[in-house]
Amino acid sequence: MTTQPTTWPRQLRLPGQAAAPEGPIDMQTMYLMHHAFRRDLDAFAGAVRSTPAGDRRTWKALADRWELFAAVLHKHHLAEDDHIWPALVQLGTLEDIAVLEAMESEHGEIDPLLESCAAGFRRLARRADEDARAALAVRVCAARESLRRHLAHEETEAIAIIQRLIDTARWAEIEAGIGKGASLREAVRTVPWVGYGVPREALERVLRDVPTPFRVIWSLTRRGFARREARTFRFA
Ligand SMILES: [Fe+2]
Repeated sequence: MTTQPTTWPRQLRLPGQAAAPEGPIDMQTMYLMHHAFRRDLDAFAGAVRSTPAGDRRTWKALADRWELFAAVLHKHHLAEDDHIWPALVQLGTLEDIAVLEAMESEHGEIDPLLESCAAGFRRLARRADEDARAALAVRVCAARESLRRHLAHEETEAIAIIQRLIDTARWAEIEAGIGKGASLREAVRTVPWVGYGVPREALERVLRDVPTPFRVIWSLTRRGFARREARTFRFA
């Protein structure tokens, strides 16, 4: 099912990434998303530790920013659970299926952690509460640990299964299924979020590869996004 190794793409490697299994599929988009999730949780952990409990304006910005993070992560997990893992289950060995089932159950463990963090951010946006800040610091670190473990597991084992079982034509079908119904509004929200903080060399490669509309959205939105990030995470 796989093409000749000589034609395999060079996989993107980003800070924090646990692995980049070789194979016919270019997993660039997946690794960019994972990088953004890791980057966000590090930033949130720092912000919760150092933002004064009484600075409601910054907590409101953090609560809104957490919503963006959680919405993109939720959508990412949904795409994997609905489109990617089912395509592999049909082709995999029992061992592969065990890994894919673990992916889905790890997603299920992360969801309640995210929800409890969202509640903590909302609470601090409403009123100064030092105990709530301390509790949120613990929860954000727990969410970060849980997501880090999951992403590393996915990168080392689940993506290796994708590379072994799926060819580029099938992957294009899966990606088309995931992208169906995506809106311009959503792209404007997520493109600057994905690209923010990506090391220059990797970013240059990504910008060469992506379709022109993404490049245009990136150039129009990146500065505003960076300014808002600097404000939201000013104490981090
Ligand atoms: Fe993923």
